Amino acid sequence: MKELSLNILDIAQNSISANADLIYITVHENISENYLKIIISDNGKGMSKEFLKTVTDPFSTTRKTRKVGMGISLLKLVTEQTDGAFSIQSEIGVGTVVTAEFTLNHIDRPPLGDIEQTISTLISCNEHIDFVFTRKVNKNEFVLDTREIKKILNGVSLSEPDIIIWIQEYIKENENNLLEE
Ligand SMILES: Nc1ncnc2c1ncn2[C@@H]1O[C@H](COP(=O)(O)OP(=O)(O)OP(=O)(O)O)[C@@H](O)[C@H]1O
Ligand SMILES: [Mg+2]
Repeated sequence: MKELSLNILDIAQNSISANADLIYITVHENISENYLKIIISDNGKGMSKEFLKTVTDPFSTTRKTRKVGMGISLLKLVTEQTDGAFSIQSEIGVGTVVTAEFTLNHIDRPPLGDIEQTISTLISCNEHIDFVFTRKVNKNEFVLDTREIKKILNGVSLSEPDIIIWIQEYIKENENNLLEE
């Protein structure tokens, strides 16, 4: 995986499989402190303490089609390759928080990639789930909250092509503003 936005898609997919109906995705880069941090948290079914201990091992998975689960162990590997840090907290019936921190200017840090594509895909393919996407550069941030968008749309589907394009452009424009500030 060459773009962190694809890792984000993968980790959020775990939250969806865990029956979450509210997923927070935060991408925070801090230039003076030289980190890029990704936090994905959900209110899904969570994992037991025993399972959590082994979850960063590629052989631990509850999937049935193939024995090896990759999403979490792969993301952990990438953080380690950039001298970063990885953590996962989870509680049965409460939810899960995955935190991946990278050294921002590390030569092996993959680019964030097409984050507006990732977020808009997650939103439009999972209308019954709410997403809160926060993008932060240093101290400036913007937030996209599907609960607010749904109120404004008043019944119009989030998978309408016009709405998907609007979401992508909204993210791109705000992201550019943040990076210019
Ligand atoms: N947010 C989550 N909530 C509950 N359980 C989770 C969550 N994320 C991961 N898990 C559990 O951890 C296992 C490992 O996840 P991981 O993403 O590494 O592999 P996978 O989802 O099984 O397979 P792959 O991602 O390769 O399709 C999952 O099968 C699931 O049981
Ligand atoms: Mg997975």
